[in-house]
Amino acid sequence: MHKEILKLINSHALISDQIDRRSLYVVLENLEKVLANGVPGDIAEFGCYSGTTSLFISRLLLKRAEHSRQFHVYDSFEGLPAKSNEDEGSVGHEFQEGKLQVSKKDFIRNYHKAGLPLPIIHKGWFEDLTDQDVPGKLAFTFLDGDFYDSIYQSLQLSWPRLSRGGVLCIDDYMREALPGVAKAISKYFGTEIKTIKHANIGIITKP
Ligand SMILES: C[S@@+](CC[C@H](N)C(=O)[O-])C[C@H]1O[C@@H](n2cnc3c(N)ncnc32)[C@H](O)[C@@H]1O
Repeated sequence: MHKEILKLINSHALISDQIDRRSLYVVLENLEKVLANGVPGDIAEFGCYSGTTSLFISRLLLKRAEHSRQFHVYDSFEGLPAKSNEDEGSVGHEFQEGKLQVSKKDFIRNYHKAGLPLPIIHKGWFEDLTDQDVPGKLAFTFLDGDFYDSIYQSLQLSWPRLSRGGVLCIDDYMREALPGVAKAISKYFGTEIKTIKHANIGIITKP
C-alpha cells in the first residue's frame, strides 16, 4: 500500500458515490506510477461528472508539482446518453438516459470549494470531439463513461495518444450492471492486450 496516497484519500471527502475509496486508490496508485516513471504526456478523464475523481487527480498532480502536465476532463454535463444493445442486461436499470446530470458550473464550484486550480474542461458528447480536443500525448487516462459507445469512443480518442508505459484505467470494468464497458474494451483490443482488474478498475499499460 502506498501510504501517501492512502493519506490523501482519507484526508478529503468523496463528493459523490460515483467512486469508492478502494477504486480511487487504484486510480491514484497508477497515476503515481506513471508520474514516478516520468512517462511523457498529459492526463485525461472521460466522464468527470461532478469531479469526485478529478479533484483527487488534481490534488496528486499538485502534490507532485507536476505543473507542466495538463489535466483535461470531458463530459456532456447532460448526463448519460441512451444505452445501446450492448449495455442491456438483467440488472443496471438505474443507469438511464439523462441520469448523472450535473452542470459544468457545479463542477467548477466543487473545484473552487476545494481551492484547487481548474483542469481544462471540455463540455460535449464524446462522439463530437475531434483530435484537436485531445492532447497529442497522454501519460494517463481514466475512462468512466459507463456505456459501450462512450467507452469505445473515449478509447478511440485516447489510446493512440497514450505514451509507451502510460496507463489506461477503466471504471466499472466487468461490473454486471454495466456490461457495455468490458464489451467495448474487448471489441477495441480483441485479445491482444492484457487487462488487469483491481477493485472495480480495469488497468491496461501501453506496451
Ligand atoms: C459515472 S459518471 C463519472 C463519474 C466521475 N468519473 C467521478 O469520479 O465522479 C459518468 C459520466 O460520464 C458522462 N458521459 C457518459 N457518456 C458520455 C458521452 N458519450 N459523452 C459525454 N459524456 C458522457 C456522464 O454525463 C456522466 O457524468
